[in-house]
Amino acid sequence: MSNIPALLRFDAVTPLRDATARWRDAGERIVLVPTMGALHDGHLALMAQARRIGRRVVASIFVNPTQFGPNEDFSRYPRDLETDLALLAAAGIDAAYLPDVETMYPPGFSTRIEVTGLTEGLCGAFRPGHFSGVATVVTKLVNQVRPDIALFGEKDYQQLQVITRTMRDLDIPVEIRGVPTLREADGLALSSRNRYLTPEERAIAPRLQSMLSRIARELVAGGQATGLVASGIAELKQAGFSPVQYLAVCDAETLAPVERVASPARVLVAAYLGRTRLIDNVEVVPEA
Ligand code: PAF
Repeated sequence: MSNIPALLRFDAVTPLRDATARWRDAGERIVLVPTMGALHDGHLALMAQARRIGRRVVASIFVNPTQFGPNEDFSRYPRDLETDLALLAAAGIDAAYLPDVETMYPPGFSTRIEVTGLTEGLCGAFRPGHFSGVATVVTKLVNQVRPDIALFGEKDYQQLQVITRTMRDLDIPVEIRGVPTLREADGLALSSRNRYLTPEERAIAPRLQSMLSRIARELVAGGQATGLVASGIAELKQAGFSPVQYLAVCDAETLAPVERVASPARVLVAAYLGRTRLIDNVEVVPEA
């Protein structure tokens, strides 16, 4: 017999709330890990971190239609619920929250959260409405589960900052924590969308991370963003990425562009390889 307790499954808000209320009343710290499923080792790293810091872990799986644009991959986004549930059970997660679209957006639903400023550049410039969809669904998930802490991967770095700001601005009592990106041995950031890559594209994809790391090193050595960004874009195009949507050096918190790095910063990129849009980012920590 395994000593891992059975994974609870909820698809409605009231029984989920009843369970988390019992845990809260017992003084148990609750951690929420929101996902869109198609779980990979990057998600499992979030689950393992959640297990370490919380007494109770809730993982949500919901492919949120409101964060996909009309020409994006909502309908072909990978879905594999049975495998996901087996992975969550093996990871010792307490509860899987699996709402359907009607539960999250019942008829008459008409509220959206807009975060200004932070969402205007980077992915926000290419995915109108995306961060509004993310901020709205995460606010709902947090209000439904009422966790003490919610974990998000740093791979979606702008998303992490947008969610942090949303919770702070709306006084929602949850601590948002980022978890460092998990990478393949060759540096490619783990992503559910990597499974779209052809073998040829998969061989090219790690160039994204090697370029970001080179730029980060050169910034620490005193380099200027403008020249480094131009060389990085040229390198990606040469490798076969097209289009390169953006490559930018930004303040780690406000995401405002920076030219030289004097405080924590990030280098962020989004580029297509064939039909697949890849994003990645690395931190830049200036030498003391
Ligand atoms: O990063 C994701 O998987 C999604 O954007 C999230 C945070 C689960 C909201 O749908």
